[in-house]
Amino acid sequence: MSALPGSAEGTAVTGLDSSAVEVHGDLPPLTETTRAECREIMARYPVPRSALLPMLHLVQSVQGYVSPEGVALCAQELGLTKAEVGAVATFYTMFKRRPTGRHLVSVCTNTLCAVLGGQKIYDEVAAELGVHHDETTADGTITLEHAECLAACDYAPVVTVDYEFYDQQDVAAALELVAALRRGEKPDPTRGAPLTDFRGVSRQLAGFSQHADAAAAQAAVDGPSAGVPTLRGVRLAAERGEAAPAMPAAETAAPAEAGTPDRTPTGDGGTPGAQAADAEVAAAGNPAERSGAEQNHPDRPEPAGRAAADRDAPAPDADGQAQSGSGTSVQREV
Ligand code: FES
Repeated sequence: MSALPGSAEGTAVTGLDSSAVEVHGDLPPLTETTRAECREIMARYPVPRSALLPMLHLVQSVQGYVSPEGVALCAQELGLTKAEVGAVATFYTMFKRRPTGRHLVSVCTNTLCAVLGGQKIYDEVAAELGVHHDETTADGTITLEHAECLAACDYAPVVTVDYEFYDQQDVAAALELVAALRRGEKPDPTRGAPLTDFRGVSRQLAGFSQHADAAAAQAAVDGPSAGVPTLRGVRLAAERGEAAPAMPAAETAAPAEAGTPDRTPTGDGGTPGAQAADAEVAAAGNPAERSGAEQNHPDRPEPAGRAAADRDAPAPDADGQAQSGSGTSVQREV
């Protein structure tokens, strides 16, 4: 039985009321390279089917949406049914059921953004573009969607383009933003990495670099991060002498086993990242900032839950290959 996302059968199987997935004959093909990259993603996980979400992002990066062909490829590689893959693909709004434009413009219309003008922004942008939710402009440049909370309420009203943030927008700014996108420009987000496009960011979400070279990737990493509104709570806590309680994971993490890297912060800055984190801890001006810096330190102890998951992973044999019979096979999980 066919049970692709959006099909009547799929809806019956998954219980999700989903619109029909569209079939297009002029899509870029999913090649053997795509299949090899799917397997590369699968190899990152102790249980292969844990790779499904990034694999869906990968096929979306090639074809602009999760096509029936993409569902079939993921199902085939993971040993799942198309219905199982479809149930996942139709649950998450980041997976699209019809081809997406070059850019995905998401306007938050959730409570805080809405009362500060988000709904007005959405209405005006929709009228300007001549499209409604989940529709693409005739020139293929923009797919518009209204979004639930984009997790940036302190910057409301928020618009994202390909998941990059454009904070504290108003109608005029949002209209200029979409006009620039239609002219082929890529205005700098107000924080985070430089804007690319929907397929590029989908590839990044699959765990592959979307940048042409290492310098471009580093520039994206070095993009501006959180600004004044997000830090306001930290400053208020510092003024009041408040600090976050210590994470319980440090006390309950499993003891390191032989051959397991010791992740306890040493303060000797073994890597450039650890050196920067050491400096950040040392420079903390109050308990709240120090607590935050310690939580972000790459050498802090692994959380207890992660350690438990690691213990379930197949033990490597003498050749470094995962052994069977460890109880973590796909067959048992499926
Ligand atoms: S309500 Fe818009 S980002 Fe949270």
